[in-house]
Amino acid sequence: MQTVRQLLQVKGHDVWAIGPDTSVYDAIKIMADKDIGALIVREGDNTVGLISERDYVRNVVLEGRSSRKAAVREVMTPRVVCARPEQTLEECMAVMTEKRVRHLPVIDGQQLYGIISIGDLVKAMIEEQQFIIEQLVHYINR
Ligand SMILES: NC(=O)c1ccc[n+]([C@@H]2O[C@H](COP(=O)([O-])OP(=O)(O)OC[C@H]3O[C@@H](n4cnc5c(N)ncnc54)[C@H](O)[C@@H]3O)[C@@H](O)[C@H]2O)c1
Repeated sequence: MQTVRQLLQVKGHDVWAIGPDTSVYDAIKIMADKDIGALIVREGDNTVGLISERDYVRNVVLEGRSSRKAAVREVMTPRVVCARPEQTLEECMAVMTEKRVRHLPVIDGQQLYGIISIGDLVKAMIEEQQFIIEQLVHYINR
């Protein structure tokens, strides 16, 4: 089974992050510009939260707040569930399902090593299964 480290070798290690005092509007603008659904919230070298489209919908829109006035720290998810590079994609999928999250920052020791989303996992797992099917078909047709 593929590991997070292997997935990130293909996907890359870039992470889009913002500070906790950024306005929610600017956070959503960055998500739209980069075509991503979440940003890691960093204060210095520390990961202090994660803000997702879901946080925006539930904690800003439904609460009737102004995205230009609200700061990211007021609406972000502060306790971030993370993954480690040596974990398998299956383990990460189980964590996402159990914790009901769609993004996992990847932490190697103290370092932010990357980020994976549920779409990354689904794509990698489908490719892996497709490869196995092709191998089996090849074996049967020998
Ligand atoms: N074709 C692909 O390679 C691929 C990969 C992932 C998702 N998708 C599709 O994109 C759509 C939405 O995907 P999703 O729900 O997984 O989440 P998403 O839109 O947040 O993620 C899209 C991509 O951006 C990356 N990403 C997200 N936040 C990031 C951040 N802060 N810094 C750096 N990279 C970040 C993810 O790892 C993923 O590769 C779905 O339709 C999914 O199928 C396609």
